[in-house]
Amino acid sequence: MAVEPKRRAASIRLTPDQIAAFRTLIYDHYRANPRPLPWRGTTDPYAILASEIMLQQTQVDRVREKYVAFLAAFPDIANLAAAPLAEVLTAWQGLGYNRRAIALHRCAQTVMAEHDGLLPAEVATLETLPGIGPYTARAVAAFAFHQPTVFIETNIRTVFIHQFCRDRHGVHDRDILPLVEQTLDRDNPRDWYFALMDYGVMLKKAHPNPGRRSAHHVRQSPFKGSNRELRSRILKQVLAVPACTAAEIAVMLGVEPATVEKNLVQLSREGFIVERDGCHFIG
Ligand code: ADE
Repeated sequence: MAVEPKRRAASIRLTPDQIAAFRTLIYDHYRANPRPLPWRGTTDPYAILASEIMLQQTQVDRVREKYVAFLAAFPDIANLAAAPLAEVLTAWQGLGYNRRAIALHRCAQTVMAEHDGLLPAEVATLETLPGIGPYTARAVAAFAFHQPTVFIETNIRTVFIHQFCRDRHGVHDRDILPLVEQTLDRDNPRDWYFALMDYGVMLKKAHPNPGRRSAHHVRQSPFKGSNRELRSRILKQVLAVPACTAAEIAVMLGVEPATVEKNLVQLSREGFIVERDGCHFIG
């Protein structure tokens, strides 16, 4: 039996009229409902990098509060690079996924040591820095340096799936990227991506959320009761009471000592904690 070849969005070539209509739709919504987010009022590459790293795995409302306090504590890259890790982790509390704080701290130190304290503008160079992956490099290049880079994050993905992949499930990013590229407003990539993200946020409130039709859609596992939660509690404990032993932490948290030990080993491997004579400190 002949099978009709799967129609892939990658093969879609949009007409100039389709592109113009799409841009009007996205920009009209943005002009009527812009989200006044604090990191959108700046082109400081460091501030934008910090916000993008925070936004990777944390909800916008939580980032909004923490971002302002973090930037007040570490107003520039030199300040962050010079700060003790314990201070950086303290400012990061509430954002979760603390590995990002270590990476941002190391990134600041690398920029001071190897780039004269200036975050590079080129995507390829940005990608060599700790904590900066393909998405973050392109987002920083677009938002801080006005470069027409092509990238996808969860809200942008939702827009393209809704608009151009109506009946499809398991839509892959490689099928969406050519559409992002074709529709990009190269004269103003910064506002264009802000506008796309805001349209995506609106669409995600729909039932069903079109983003669920992405091949990359993953539900975040619950934090409560997870080992991720325990790691975070251990770290908080060491921040609050430096030089504590594994047994003390186990008592303070009401957890099995073996479980605490295992997590302490992992946390020291990742650079959060150092152990001296059985006592634990922030790395
Ligand atoms: N504005 C700029 N970057 C953003 C992001 N990653 N998520 C939401 N809003 C943003």
